[in-house]
Amino acid sequence: LNFLTPKKRSEIVDILVQGLQRMEYRGYDSAGIAIDGSNEIESPHSKVSLLRKTGKVSVLADYIKTNSDHLDMDMEYNIHCGIAHTRWATHGSPKDVNSHPHRSNEKNEFLVVHNGIITNYREIKEYLMKKGHVFESETDTEVIAKLTQHIHDRYPDFSFRQLVETVIQQLEGAFALAFKSSRFPGQLVASRRGSPLLVGIKSNSRLQTNHFPVSFSKGRRFMSNHATHLRDESSFVETPNNILDLSIAVRSQVGSGKIDVTDSTTAVRPFDSEDWEVEYFVASDAAAIIEHTKQVLFLEDDDVAFVEDELQSIDMELQEIMKGSYKTYMQKEIFEQPDSIVNTMRGRLLPSGQVVLGGIKEYLPDIKRCRRLIMVACGTSYHSAIACRQILEELSELPVVVELASDFLDRQTPIFRDDVCIFISQSGETADTLMALRYCKPRGALTIGVTNTVGSSICRESHCGIHINAGPEIGVASTKAYTSQILSLLMFALTLSDDRISMQQRRDEIIQALNDLPNQIREVLQLDSQVHDIAQRIYKEKSLLIMGRGFNFATCLEGALKIKELSYMHCEGIMSGELKHGPLAMVDEFLSICMVICNDHVYKKSLNALQQVVARDGSPIIIADTSVPEVIPLQLLSYHIAELNGANVDRPRNLAKSVTVE
Ligand code: G6P
Repeated sequence: LNFLTPKKRSEIVDILVQGLQRMEYRGYDSAGIAIDGSNEIESPHSKVSLLRKTGKVSVLADYIKTNSDHLDMDMEYNIHCGIAHTRWATHGSPKDVNSHPHRSNEKNEFLVVHNGIITNYREIKEYLMKKGHVFESETDTEVIAKLTQHIHDRYPDFSFRQLVETVIQQLEGAFALAFKSSRFPGQLVASRRGSPLLVGIKSNSRLQTNHFPVSFSKGRRFMSNHATHLRDESSFVETPNNILDLSIAVRSQVGSGKIDVTDSTTAVRPFDSEDWEVEYFVASDAAAIIEHTKQVLFLEDDDVAFVEDELQSIDMELQEIMKGSYKTYMQKEIFEQPDSIVNTMRGRLLPSGQVVLGGIKEYLPDIKRCRRLIMVACGTSYHSAIACRQILEELSELPVVVELASDFLDRQTPIFRDDVCIFISQSGETADTLMALRYCKPRGALTIGVTNTVGSSICRESHCGIHINAGPEIGVASTKAYTSQILSLLMFALTLSDDRISMQQRRDEIIQALNDLPNQIREVLQLDSQVHDIAQRIYKEKSLLIMGRGFNFATCLEGALKIKELSYMHCEGIMSGELKHGPLAMVDEFLSICMVICNDHVYKKSLNALQQVVARDGSPIIIADTSVPEVIPLQLLSYHIAELNGANVDRPRNLAKSVTVE
């Protein structure tokens, strides 16, 4: 950050803590910040204070507030760099010392925040321990801070940027990193590989050009053949064209009127000798910085950054991510569905009956020529693929395969050049799905991303895509993204069949039904209080089975996932065709059962299943005849069960909204 008017320490803390609050959906086991100046309680001898707390961001905020007397909150800064992090534990349980930022030593000389996983951290740790470094946490991230210190001690002339470039050569795995150092006050270095990272800039009016006064150096990915060996110390010297990934360095001065960029491939000086104010934000997600700026640059792995060409304005309004009058984001997102699905369809269903998906238009002839459609996803997105498999098969007359991304990768599934692979991901950042995309692309398949996040990794790396346009989804349990994913895939199926006369009638029926959908959803949402009553009857149960078949098998899986993730109750989605092959043994008068039965092509078979259940004294809750919105009563049910159980609806324990680690 650089300020024309000096900012108080308290204001800087507020910016960081608010940013963390916006990012909290990603993880909320613990949170921490590092800012300039000492902290009399924890680090009286350091020029940088480190404040870390287990629990939600609010715990950290309270801790800072309670100790504000010791934190010299009125201290003013012209230039300041702060880093902050909210954690979803992978290595090491959630406790203060495992929280980020991690530090190189007790003087807090080098500090780092990290999103991702360092897969070779054990080797690095062992090496550094032999060299006398003492570790305080169980995390993979701490090795990054200690390694930076180690290299700095060996090569004291290295600039901050050179240090980071050298450090990341040693790292394997996925990372988005931001570094701060008491040795390099006012400087920030950030880098990424695999995990997303973006830079936002906020400036006074003179800087509203398309220039980005940040310097970037393009790093080439360092291909190590020694995956598990730390390289010898002698190789800790920078080899200019062998630096890793993209690194950014910012070194600016206030008052001189110049932006003094670090030596790099691109240096932009938008103006000279004028007063200016500029603040930089580096974040894993635009949500953290959207209230400060909409001028954002998405960093890419191994890119040369010509920053002035890549500035993007994010089309996301702050109020869109606010809760409004709803109690929770999830509740808001469930009730938004009549509108969010309209946004998904907007401009795409033409009155002529044509369906136009701009993001895949150019590739449509190639897509139609393919021999197989493969949908790859995780979690709720995977369920949307299951929900649409049948309609895709019917309208495209192609074999359609649905894959869980993790299993698809585990099996190293054979992929052909004439396959079309569709990657469905709300966030566009889920590591398994992204890795699956990176697996398919070099094998020659045509790749389509179906995401809710413009500029996300899956968006950028796929050949073409469909944006589901559901608006930001903050609740960890996905709701409106699911219905919008289904509609997007349905529209995709319609575009594949637009030249088939034999399908015309079926297409017309579907399009007509889509037009009626928002009203149907509104009607279903009116059942909220009845669903609440049902929740009250069953919220203490240990187990719930949800059964259905045909189009609604996915509804059962998705409903069961919602109940598991929100209320921690055992819940299974069961294909009712399989009932007699096992699950029926569990049925008696005590077991809670929910059945989804619609007047569709499997209606009679569904009734059979119902009779089998009733014959064993089961008394199921029935969800009937709502077509696509069938999942909504189950979304509401899971919401109410969780609330009645006192669980955190927006942030279920142990989960995160975007899982950017494999
Ligand atoms: C996490 C979230 C789920 C989500 C899944 C896939 O597990 O908690 O709600 O369905 O990731 O996420 P994606 O962003 O790829 O759709």
